[in-house]
Amino acid sequence: MHESVYRILMVAAEVAPLAKVGGLADVAGALPKALNALGHETRVLMPAYPMILNDSRWQIESLTQFEVAIRPDWTETAFVKRLTLPSGLQVYLLQVGDWFANAVDSATLYAVDPRAYVAFARAATEWLTRHADWTPQIVHCNDWHTALIPVYLRVLRGERADTMATVFTIHNLAFQGVFEQDFFATLGLPDYLFDVEGLEFYGKVNLLKGALLYSDRINTVSPTYAAEIQTPEYGEQLEGLLRRLADERRLSGILNGIDYDEWNPATDPYIAAHYSAEQPQGKATCKAALQEACGWQPDPTKPVIGLVSRLTDQKGLDLIKALGAKLLQMPLQLVVLGAGDPAYERFFRAQHKRHRAKVHATIGFNNAWAHQIYAGADMFLMPSRFEPCGLGQMISLRYGTIPIVRQTGGLADSITPYDPLRGVGNGFVFREYKPNALYEAIRQAVESFGDASAWQALVPRVMRQDWSWRRSADAYAALYSEALETRTAHSRAYTP
Ligand code: ADP
Ligand code: GLC
Repeated sequence: MHESVYRILMVAAEVAPLAKVGGLADVAGALPKALNALGHETRVLMPAYPMILNDSRWQIESLTQFEVAIRPDWTETAFVKRLTLPSGLQVYLLQVGDWFANAVDSATLYAVDPRAYVAFARAATEWLTRHADWTPQIVHCNDWHTALIPVYLRVLRGERADTMATVFTIHNLAFQGVFEQDFFATLGLPDYLFDVEGLEFYGKVNLLKGALLYSDRINTVSPTYAAEIQTPEYGEQLEGLLRRLADERRLSGILNGIDYDEWNPATDPYIAAHYSAEQPQGKATCKAALQEACGWQPDPTKPVIGLVSRLTDQKGLDLIKALGAKLLQMPLQLVVLGAGDPAYERFFRAQHKRHRAKVHATIGFNNAWAHQIYAGADMFLMPSRFEPCGLGQMISLRYGTIPIVRQTGGLADSITPYDPLRGVGNGFVFREYKPNALYEAIRQAVESFGDASAWQALVPRVMRQDWSWRRSADAYAALYSEALETRTAHSRAYTP
């Protein structure tokens, strides 16, 4: 039997509020807090980006310095620093040479040479197994940037490494860290690992695949996405391996939650008025403030649709593009905040210029403005092609903003169709990935908005739903317990 309270190290390339591009940061910042509230001891490890080191909000202390040989001809000096967030959460910052020097803001966070993640993972393993004065029982890695850690832990071995159980979470299977074959030599791993039962992937190197093979447990961020990625449509060519992991009971899905301290309309420092399910009046003030900030006359009768998103194909933006003028013929206003693919940035900028009375688009990353959109909009648009979990729809619900979503992944696990007659459901849902299906969902939303008294009942009802981390933090603790059991069984088997 294992004690039910664990020491956990969460490792991720982005962690809110220190460095954020998308939902991974929200999860890596909030899940550790929720685990600690349950009595676990969770700490976080991430790269020491200049955007954190240069940010005067944080007090950073230096802990250790060591040398790490990634390959016989590649040695780096690593520094471990630490800061404590206002929540009490301890974050270790690992600096390895100058590899992350380019990461000065959200836009440049991933503008680094991929060898940076090799150096980070190898140095993290060195620190964990030789230098750290705190050793976790669980090393919980996230996405391909951290995927080499479970591989190094198993390959390098040693007493400390053998007892650390590894859990790997897939936040987005579209990103796997795939490189040409010659990249394999950079990793300093034995040649036998360049194999179908190793990191080899159609003649290339796939870092995420290494984590799938070498971690004690693998999960993704919703039950529906966990099933979807076992099919060719969503499996990104790893569906065969993922099916095998599912058969071996090593793959599961746990729905994300959202940070109820960060996303709370009753205390949110960024919004024009505070409100809650019990006292929802302030939402009207937030809407008027949003319309005004967009240069529009405040008008409570016009439905405002918000969209806060990374601008990538994943998010179903080509459906919006395809609808074009047809969308804007409806009586609505659209507020967009996003950054990413230059073609979508251009598209939304152009819409803003051409249709100033109906479309407002901000290109860039802006946390305060995101809060103001969630609070001020009536509806939130998320027509994703695929969505591992999605946090935007949950944040929206917390702010009484009704999601319009495609039924896929975590959107399917959190949003059910609104039925005004029975007073059930929390959003507007479409299934087929077609512009007309999206159009129909938006049309329904706009029509429902016209029934003011039904809408006024809907808003506080969805605000009362629970999207906090509480439940899912319990599910992660159960996953950690399974991972530890597997690890203990393995290390017994290895002991001569
Ligand atoms: P993903 O992780 O795929 O980007 P999620 O819905 O899980 O999608 O999470 C996105 C998170 O990033 C949300 O907290 C959302 O509010 C935030 N976000 C996305 N784009 C921006 C932006 N341009 N400015 C501020 N916040 C953003
Ligand atoms: C990824 C996914 C998103 C998910 C987030 C956090 O970025 O695209 O669906 O919510 O990770 O898990």
